[in-house]
Amino acid sequence: MKLFIDTANIEEIKDAYSLGIVSGVTTNPSIIAREGKKFEDAIAEISAIVSPETLIFGEVISLEADKMVEEGRAINKIRPNMIVKIPTCKEGLKAVSILSKEGIKTCCTLCFSAGQALLASAAGASYVAPFVGRVDDIGWTGMELIQKIADMFAIQEAPTQIVAASTRNPIHVIDLALAGADVATVPYKVLMQMIDHPLTKSGLDKFLKDYEKIPK
Ligand code: G3P
Repeated sequence: MKLFIDTANIEEIKDAYSLGIVSGVTTNPSIIAREGKKFEDAIAEISAIVSPETLIFGEVISLEADKMVEEGRAINKIRPNMIVKIPTCKEGLKAVSILSKEGIKTCCTLCFSAGQALLASAAGASYVAPFVGRVDDIGWTGMELIQKIADMFAIQEAPTQIVAASTRNPIHVIDLALAGADVATVPYKVLMQMIDHPLTKSGLDKFLKDYEKIPK
């Protein structure tokens, strides 16, 4: 399973990227708004940090298919390896099918059911983004959704990849890997929580103290 970072914060992206574990950056309008920058400026700044192979996801904000298509074409032109995020709704599916026929890579976002994921794949989406945490928030089990989509895509040999989003904690990320998600897009805070372990810290402290006792 690949790891993407779910942020537009430059310091977070720089730090996570320097670890060599992140191969994509996902944004949405809420994430961009948090940085107080224009969409194009935020994407340009992210592009300047990451390698050309790194995927960057930018989302359309229009609600009609034809406008989504226009926006999607413009987003796609910003840089190579730009993925256009489009909501999984009726107009969104229309837009995805038009853009995918033009060779533009799309991600059906705000996906909350296996049926939506199946339609996203049928429309030609390269990625589908089910929101694990938000499913948990309403008292359902987000991970069951991921498992079902992963099984369905495997049986159907669908080329669409699962970018599991709305990941809130390290357990989510581990369970996503076990459920068969292709990618987990993870907030910076969750990545750091995955790294930190009290036994690693105390073990390191002890090794360093013991090193002092070694005759030099
Ligand atoms: O990638 C989608 C994500 O940003 C949404 O996360 O925590 O607002 O549900 P959350």
